Amino acid sequence: MAIRIDDSKKLFTLQTKNTTYQMQVGKCDVLLHLYYGKKVENDNLDYLIKPCDRGFSGNPCEAGDERGYSLDTLPQEFSGYGTSDFRLNSVAVSGENGSLSADFRYVSHMILDKKHEIPAMPSLYDNGSEAQTLAVVLEDKAAKLRVTLYYSVFEELDVITRAADITYLGEQEAVISKAMSLCLDLPYGNYDMLHFYGRHAMERQLERTPLMHGTRAIGSKRGASSHHHNPFVILCEREASEDYGECYGAALVYSGNFTAEVEVDQVDQTRFVMGIGSEYFSWTLKKNEVFHMPEAVLSYTDKGFTALSHIFHRAFRHNLCRGDYKLKRRPILINNWEATYFDFNKDKLVEIAKTAAELGVEMLVMDDGWFGKRDNDVSGLGDWFVNEKKLGSTLKELVDEVNGQGLKFGIWFEPEMISEDSELYKEHPEWVLRVPNKLPDRSRFQLVLDMSRDDVRDYLFASISSVLDSANIEYIKWDMNRSMSDVYSNALPAEKQGEASHRYMLGLYDLLEKITSKYPHVLLEGCSGGGGRFDAGMLYYSPQIWCSDNTDAIERIKIQYGTSFAYPISSVGSHVSASPNHQTGRHTPLKTRGVVAMAGSFGYELDLSKMTEEEKVCVKEQIEDFKKYYDVIQDGNYYRLTNPFENHYFSAWQFVSEDRSKALFNIVVTHVEGNARAVHCKLKGLNETSLYRINDRIYTGSALMHAGFVVDKEWSDYPAEQYYIEEVEKR
Ligand code: DGJ
Repeated sequence: MAIRIDDSKKLFTLQTKNTTYQMQVGKCDVLLHLYYGKKVENDNLDYLIKPCDRGFSGNPCEAGDERGYSLDTLPQEFSGYGTSDFRLNSVAVSGENGSLSADFRYVSHMILDKKHEIPAMPSLYDNGSEAQTLAVVLEDKAAKLRVTLYYSVFEELDVITRAADITYLGEQEAVISKAMSLCLDLPYGNYDMLHFYGRHAMERQLERTPLMHGTRAIGSKRGASSHHHNPFVILCEREASEDYGECYGAALVYSGNFTAEVEVDQVDQTRFVMGIGSEYFSWTLKKNEVFHMPEAVLSYTDKGFTALSHIFHRAFRHNLCRGDYKLKRRPILINNWEATYFDFNKDKLVEIAKTAAELGVEMLVMDDGWFGKRDNDVSGLGDWFVNEKKLGSTLKELVDEVNGQGLKFGIWFEPEMISEDSELYKEHPEWVLRVPNKLPDRSRFQLVLDMSRDDVRDYLFASISSVLDSANIEYIKWDMNRSMSDVYSNALPAEKQGEASHRYMLGLYDLLEKITSKYPHVLLEGCSGGGGRFDAGMLYYSPQIWCSDNTDAIERIKIQYGTSFAYPISSVGSHVSASPNHQTGRHTPLKTRGVVAMAGSFGYELDLSKMTEEEKVCVKEQIEDFKKYYDVIQDGNYYRLTNPFENHYFSAWQFVSEDRSKALFNIVVTHVEGNARAVHCKLKGLNETSLYRINDRIYTGSALMHAGFVVDKEWSDYPAEQYYIEEVEKR
């Protein structure tokens, strides 16, 4: 059983294959956190809590004369507000009498033999008897609030999800202004924090900082999870590395504003909270109304970052991504964006399709510019009807011709946005997010539609459906190209404006659910100016997300490296683009661009007509290679062999099949040297004793992993190599 309860001791133990999570209803009915870490057998870990009388750490009245019993120092599962716990709060609420207080006590619990689902929001799911859920009910009788905490335990995956909802039980109303899905107290140990910061075209750069006393916070208030921070955080012991050490990973299954805060307190305890971004958030609850917080996905390993990534990759791939393409090989696509930008018509696209088909490409994606009045980025958004004048044909004629070349067809949308210069804006200026009597801030000359409105979503569903129904469309790129400001909804009364950002997200999820259920065969690729909304929430609807607008292979190494800590390779949208690169002007060999793009969903984004015959042969080979290596790349385990932020000479990564019989070793020299050092790298994930073939030489697994492999090449600028490794004898 994944969940064990000792009623006499009010002890709850959650067990996964390799981890234990334990909590206990303590003396004053406070739900205390005892432990999360490596698996511990059948023990009561309450001895880990050592109450101690500390000055200025107060005591609840129920504790009587026990001055050591302080909320300020006890590890807890859901920290209160306005109490004598002065550390990070899990909730902030203004009660019916104006009180700023929430102090929860245990009431009851229940076990469910299934995964907990969150109404109207994405979350991990159970593929059949994989998960059990413990629901623990807490109440604050004075504030008339009830919180239910949900712990779903995926025993085999080594994953525990945590969600919570909050109900107001009084007669008036309560206003919540902070609601953290996760509250993880780590009473012992010194931790580093790993998080993934960035900017447009430079997403998910790894930063590792030791946690010091005080609070370290990251988050987004841009309306999307953002390019700038990612809702995935690792806390690890100071010595932890790729292959060693204790680490905790937490991902929020949410795509909007988020907050992740970590505090080291007066006695060196660490508290980690994560949830909906608190800054532009409030939610009013009337009698018996419930607010559902998004889910946080948690895992722990003592085997370092690689093992942690494998856990998240598996969980996201098998228990989060959905749809017909969840585990299927995605078509190798060519996207016309960097080939043509807005300047295309049917003939140009068919020409691209023709050459692409000859080289083995399987799908053409028509990017931005096919609709309304859209010859540049200042107009047309919202007018989701085909610009037949520009295309020189109907959409069906174009799609039929592309299909005739043997290619599938995909199309770009940016549903959540509107241009002021559009038919839609003329008709419905009230549909945008905009503060009354104030000119809104523009970004890329566009405004944001109020996705919380039913009429907006009905319009989008109908217009997207009518495009999809008009031709054989098998893929959508769902883009979103600005951060949100002026978040004010015309559809909400003044006192509910703090709900607008979260209602936007609920609206977006609702629309995505409708589209993906109506068109399950259509592959959805998420996008937000590249990877500005690359999060577990979006993966529930789109099994792949365009990783970055930066398609420079050398820059992509860092971006894809950071992305790989949480997100599986199959979710990483990655293309071969032109050289010199459009974002950086850098020249890189076509082979290198191919090797880097293969650490993702793989495709092309360049003008094939400008390629030499030699380059076309190379593209053909790349496509054949990708198909040949596909299983090991997408279904195998991913190993980061170097850290591109530390190793400036070369970067290497490896895919290894689950049974360790096949592997693909990838290496890119990122800074060529004169009188160069040997490029030497230790491989990972192989069977120690097996014999493996690389080209025409046989090696033992242990030699490749401990003595390493030397790449024997003449180097020039940014070269890459890919070595297929095959087990030839198991010993
Ligand atoms: C941003 C995307 O990331 C690009 O790939 C492209 O689709 C443009 N938007 C189109 O406007």
